[in-house]
Amino acid sequence: MTDALSPLRALHFFDVLPQELSAGWLDWLLLEDSMTKRFEQYCSRVTVRIVREGFISQDDSLPEAGLLPLDSRYWLREIILCGDEEPWLLARTVVPESTLEGPELALQQLGSTPLGRYLFSSSSLTRDYIQVGRSEALWGRRSRLRLSGKPLLLTELFLPNSPLYKEER
Ligand code: PHB
Repeated sequence: MTDALSPLRALHFFDVLPQELSAGWLDWLLLEDSMTKRFEQYCSRVTVRIVREGFISQDDSLPEAGLLPLDSRYWLREIILCGDEEPWLLARTVVPESTLEGPELALQQLGSTPLGRYLFSSSSLTRDYIQVGRSEALWGRRSRLRLSGKPLLLTELFLPNSPLYKEER
């Protein structure tokens, strides 16, 4: 298995928002709109590099298991989001197979289209919560989202060159 996503797997999530975070950083970490669109304000082109995509089962020790309904299979998508070819964000999406029906089947066919282009164009998108997390000096977040009421879990980690860290701390 590739290790490109290891900083994301090492994230520890906070129950309460850490006091130390500046308004500028919180604005990134709690952004409810598309991160791809925000990144586009800081570069000329945002691109997706797919690290891993495919079905996994519960047995593949799924850290997200407790946060999603039990299902026999989950669609997993792990990517690196780049601004002008520089890696800015790691993202891992876990979708229970029962979410993948009707228009939500598109989640399985994204390829190099950023997830947000699909999610944020959907009128049926709702969010249960966002939890901020940290892995040493790097920050991230975890969101449970719903499409037509059906859940998916998105975890994102901001890499050192991400514009987030250029904000005042
Ligand atoms: C994705 O395409 O999987 C993706 C893109 C941007 C994000 C998160 C996930 O912020």
